[in-house]
Amino acid sequence: MPTQIWQQIAATSPSTLSQLFRDDPNRTQKLMIKQCDLLFDFSKTHLHGDLLGAFEKLCGVMNLAQAKEKLFTGALVNPTEARAAEHTAERGNGHADSVAAARALQARMRGLIEAIDAGAMGEVKHVLHIGIGGSALGPKLLIDALGRDDARYDVKVVSNVDASALAEAVAGMDPHKTIIAAASKTFTTTETLMNVSSALQWMRGCGVADPEGRVIALTANPEAALAWGVDESRILPFNAAVGGRYSLWCSIGFPVAIGLGWAAYEELLEGAAAMDRHFRAAPSLENAPVLAAFADLYYAQVKGCETRAVFAYDERLRLLPDYLQQLEMESNGKSVTAGGDPLGRNSAPVTWGGVGTDAQHAVFQLLHQGTHLIPVEFIASKMPGHDFDAAHHETLLINCFAQGAALMAGRQSDDGARAYAGDRPSTTILMEDVTPSALGALIAFYEHRTYTNAVLLGINPFDQFGVELGKEIAKGIAENGPAGFDPSTMALIAEAGL
Ligand code: F6P
Repeated sequence: MPTQIWQQIAATSPSTLSQLFRDDPNRTQKLMIKQCDLLFDFSKTHLHGDLLGAFEKLCGVMNLAQAKEKLFTGALVNPTEARAAEHTAERGNGHADSVAAARALQARMRGLIEAIDAGAMGEVKHVLHIGIGGSALGPKLLIDALGRDDARYDVKVVSNVDASALAEAVAGMDPHKTIIAAASKTFTTTETLMNVSSALQWMRGCGVADPEGRVIALTANPEAALAWGVDESRILPFNAAVGGRYSLWCSIGFPVAIGLGWAAYEELLEGAAAMDRHFRAAPSLENAPVLAAFADLYYAQVKGCETRAVFAYDERLRLLPDYLQQLEMESNGKSVTAGGDPLGRNSAPVTWGGVGTDAQHAVFQLLHQGTHLIPVEFIASKMPGHDFDAAHHETLLINCFAQGAALMAGRQSDDGARAYAGDRPSTTILMEDVTPSALGALIAFYEHRTYTNAVLLGINPFDQFGVELGKEIAKGIAENGPAGFDPSTMALIAEAGL
């Protein structure tokens, strides 16, 4: 049945974007959604009547409505790990017990933050957050986006096992006024544990009397943190059914809550909760994450697009492409369905991107004239993040909108080098401002879009077994030495003197 609908989707052959606008004077209104202080403009994609109808049928066949309810009620949606995915419960939309448990753990986190504010850990100026993947990308994005002017503490996020990152982070820190947030869902991740040990060594070397007493563990494995030596009073646990890349809403968000303050953290959660409500209730054709997924699927599945590009036209959102890479690629970069059968079609495209206007002067040549068709997403804010001359922000926004217009319109020329094919799709998301609540809604939008893509493809977006093999091989080399590998790997190990 899905095969037939995919055939129908592939057979829709929409007109050019310019023609779609000529055919329907109300196209912009129909494909623009205003929700949670965000405006989503899908009108410069090829979504149109027949295509939308076919995708709605696909939603029926793949049972998107039931999949949404399963997500929001804490039912099993991660079959390979036999559990629910309860990130929405962290913002109040989930199984009642999970919501209550999340609230209790959030209250515990708030209590610890208030104690730190009151001096329970001595004078604190710096928070060194150490984690990797989902235990780092969300906090890093949010601190960079929202903590530029009035952060309550100096928060630095370190992830890479290359200690140059740690060295850079601690360079400006007073070790006597630093606390360490050790963020790891499993509390077994090599990079994180090694970085925390080295940070403790740095503190000890600088004469801090009890560095271990300055560690706060953010984890779904409190037993491991306890065994590692973190005192129970400084462990902030979270629900193991919250996936790593969905974990900024629970205690992995500690640096955000302490850095920006509890009110901002609550606004972030409420922004995400509002997007949850929209995703859960709005009909598909008025539903921002669902329409976004339709466009994603059309380009990846029917047009064969292997990548999608995301450009933040706002410095505050410069880390958004990094964040989305994990969310989208780790969730939906799978070759099998949730039931273990071969997927039989393309999985998620590669997500990449950068910031505008910088990217215009570097990679946009290929977007406009290259042979690859790449759907582009622009994200901008009506309000600037600075007090400089308003001309800066006007120029930024004008450029953002001009790029979408140029990609779509193209320009004919007898001179091939100066011709632009046009008809290249883009989506624009315009934020009222980069506030905690709008950013919460934006991130939740991406989560639900990723989930919708997964449901319509039949993928389980909540496991990530693809990261295991490399970890196991690295562990094997570290523990047993270089033996039994292919000649190339052996030669590299020998050359590096390992
Ligand atoms: O290796 C991938 C991964 O498991 C991610 O899914 C996760 O966000 C990251 O590693 C960090 O894991 P942890 O929070 O358990 O340290």
